[in-house]
Amino acid sequence: MTVEVDVANGLPAFVVVGLPDAAVQEARERVRAAVRNSGYEFPLRRVTVNLAPAERRKEGTGFDLAIALGILRASGQLRSDVGDLCFGELALDGALRPVRGTMPRVRHAVARGIRGVVVATDNAGEAAACGVAAFGFASLRDVVEHLDGRIRVAPSAVPPRAGEPRHEVDLADIAGQETPKRALEIAAAGGHNLLFVGPPGTGKTMLSRALPSILPPLDDDEAIAASTIHSVAGLADPRHPILTARPFRAPHHTASHLALVGGGSPPRPGEVSLAHFGSLFLDEVAEFSPSVLDTLREPLEERSVTISRAGGAATYPARFLLVAAMNPCPCGRYGDPELECRCLPEQIERYRGRLSGPLLDRIDLRAHVPRVPYERLRDDGRETSTQVRHRVLAARERMRARTRARINVDLTVAEVRRHCAVDGATESLLAEAVRARRLSARGYHRVLRVARTAADLASSDRVRVEDVALALLLRVDP
Ligand SMILES: Nc1ncnc2c1ncn2[C@@H]1O[C@H](COP(=O)(O)OP(=O)(O)OP(=O)(O)O)[C@@H](O)[C@H]1O
Ligand SMILES: [Mg+2]
Repeated sequence: MTVEVDVANGLPAFVVVGLPDAAVQEARERVRAAVRNSGYEFPLRRVTVNLAPAERRKEGTGFDLAIALGILRASGQLRSDVGDLCFGELALDGALRPVRGTMPRVRHAVARGIRGVVVATDNAGEAAACGVAAFGFASLRDVVEHLDGRIRVAPSAVPPRAGEPRHEVDLADIAGQETPKRALEIAAAGGHNLLFVGPPGTGKTMLSRALPSILPPLDDDEAIAASTIHSVAGLADPRHPILTARPFRAPHHTASHLALVGGGSPPRPGEVSLAHFGSLFLDEVAEFSPSVLDTLREPLEERSVTISRAGGAATYPARFLLVAAMNPCPCGRYGDPELECRCLPEQIERYRGRLSGPLLDRIDLRAHVPRVPYERLRDDGRETSTQVRHRVLAARERMRARTRARINVDLTVAEVRRHCAVDGATESLLAEAVRARRLSARGYHRVLRVARTAADLASSDRVRVEDVALALLLRVDP
């Protein structure tokens, strides 16, 4: 976008045109004060600022810097023409403040051939990460001195990627739970959504939090895409704006619709987009408001969310792995062979009903997490996350070699037919399950995709009967 400034003779006035929102209109007050308090003169003439193209809505405080520079240039106080992308919010005293969304702005400009960027100091790392000469400054005055060549500053260095992340839970910390651990491994390898159901204190939260420790690292494109969303949300770390670890977002069950899927004015990405290329963990999922959970259907299906608002719609990517955990009933004992459940049948029904059918339909892996017998709490020789991660990486390698879909959850129906063929005995096992569990066609394909991932983890070219049996075992009804 371009900021044009005209300073003409006439009664003193300051007008901003070109679909500005309230924050941009307020730029007039910030810019006027910042210009004066930086030691420049604010022209006592008619100042018209045009934000072009006029039909696009302009939001936020990022235009302050360009408007101020335009006025200083038009009034001859800045001598040089400005060819760089300049943005940032001005404080009344002339300080230059960071804004959110640095990465998408800079990437947009780079695609249009702009080579230099001038921003607030705390945004310079994000800008430099986009491959431009990025200059960070603390005040309007410093920007003018730089543009007129009176001070020399070096462009910001491309910030280093943070080191390998430390994981809070390792699979070796978790006793027993062999089947839930397999479910976690399959989820990590094939990108299948996962639900843990079990009584309190059995390790559901621990298991879920171990997921990042077995996921493959972000590749460069994924890292840029995920970091861009954090930049838009204003959550980029100025020292390490490019993410190294896959995001792991764990919103509380009181989270609102807005917090989860995004929105507002100006729009902000929600948790589903902050989890892009990572995972979204919904602990105590039955405690979330059903209407909030319902909003997950669109991102789970489309892999993106569209937020409509006055002046157009914003679409944010939302390609995440969903991991959820819940108790089987309000008291948590339902289905326990030793403890008696005290809930009424209708209480249990209502509790589980909070996870609507359409949402549950999109969760391919549903693992029961039982109480761990005492003997198992002290067992040795548990596999570490590093060992499991090696298998996950090898399985992903097989997936990549097979189809354009990078993970099995994205296999099309035609690809399922081609790559998940099974023998006669396995087919009858499936037929039986479809009848007994009233699996829909979608459910049937989902079982086969999970089975394909189980086979990939076992380095098998064929989907075997045990892979299908495991996929069916890991699809209990909560
Ligand atoms: N399988 C396990 N192996 C080792 N420690 C465990 C295991 N299960 C539970 N614990 C211990 O119990 C604590 C609670 O576990 P966690 O929070 O994962 O349980 P939960 O299933 O999520 O329970 P809730 O239903 O109450 O949320 C853990 O911090 C850990 O100390
Ligand atoms: Mg828990």
